[in-house]
Amino acid sequence: MSEKNIVVLAGDGIGPEITAAAVQVLEKVGEKFGHKFNFDHKMLGGCAIDKFGVPLPDETVEACKASDGVLLGAVGGPKWDALPADIRPEKGLLGIRKALGLFANLRPAVIYPELADASPLKKEVLERGVNVMVVRELIGGIYFGPRDVLDDGKTAYDTEIYSEEEVRRIAKVAFDIARGRRKKVTSVDKANVLLSSRLWRRVTEEVHKDYPDVELTHIYVDNAAMQLVRDPSQFDVLLCPNMFGDILSDEASQITGSIGLLPSSSLGSEKAGLFEPIHGSAPDIAGKDIANPIATILAAAMMLDNIGLSDEARAVEKAVGAFLADGYRTPDLGEGKRVGCAEAGRLIAAYI
Ligand code: IPM
Ligand code: MG
Repeated sequence: MSEKNIVVLAGDGIGPEITAAAVQVLEKVGEKFGHKFNFDHKMLGGCAIDKFGVPLPDETVEACKASDGVLLGAVGGPKWDALPADIRPEKGLLGIRKALGLFANLRPAVIYPELADASPLKKEVLERGVNVMVVRELIGGIYFGPRDVLDDGKTAYDTEIYSEEEVRRIAKVAFDIARGRRKKVTSVDKANVLLSSRLWRRVTEEVHKDYPDVELTHIYVDNAAMQLVRDPSQFDVLLCPNMFGDILSDEASQITGSIGLLPSSSLGSEKAGLFEPIHGSAPDIAGKDIANPIATILAAAMMLDNIGLSDEARAVEKAVGAFLADGYRTPDLGEGKRVGCAEAGRLIAAYI
């Protein structure tokens, strides 16, 4: 029996629906395995702007820091699109990543055999297998480098900037993860053009010396984008700077045909990690009970792994597998026994 404090940041759009489904599944896990999960709901993103005037209130940061794990839905929507960059919902997301020191973002892209038809890639390509782990640096690079608007708004710049230490710690994460997988790291950069990429490449090679059992190759980001759709089976772990990882993880997720299925975890220096679906807040379908909660439910499984409850995490993954194998489908997943978001959450909880 263990007791864990979990902060839930439902956020905007479909966020409240998908997190409610994941909480329901976690409650069932608690019941079955004899744990007590305390859920503390806090605001982040557009809803926080509406209530507090800022996308990331201090009380949210404090609650997250004190927690064992943070479960996030999604943030943003057209309602807040016209706001200045510093009080947009996305700023809240970047802020909580930074405040919790979450430098490592793990985004697995795997293909579910039952859903292979949903992939835009040819069957022959998929048969070679898709199981890529994007390891994205999350609190550095161009997202956080010096930036400004000059000349009365006629010129603007952002800066890609990395220190050795920032590259070293994320490279270690990638190599450690590769050890538990197919032992291949492909490091993504643009070293033919960017100085920051040359540093990235050099430091990655230095870190590699401690991992002789893992294969390291380097790839330019443009080539990586192309190879990912040509033959995704060649990749195991893709180690990426912040923005390249943002772009390539969207591409990788679409290869699996179902962005609604893919979770991600963000880990760092504080105790609490942050766990969220890869997809966004989908404001166009919010409140219609048609969103797919599986990515968030699998994110909750990643959280269970992170807090030392691995059997419980496997039980959640198995429940999702059983739900799909029995033919249940939210509308994004194509033909099958049609269910909505709430019903999907209820059924998956029942499979635990
Ligand atoms: C993501 C998103 C965010 C990012 C946005 C919403 C700020 O695209 O998590 O991939 O760019 O990191
Ligand atoms: Mg993104």
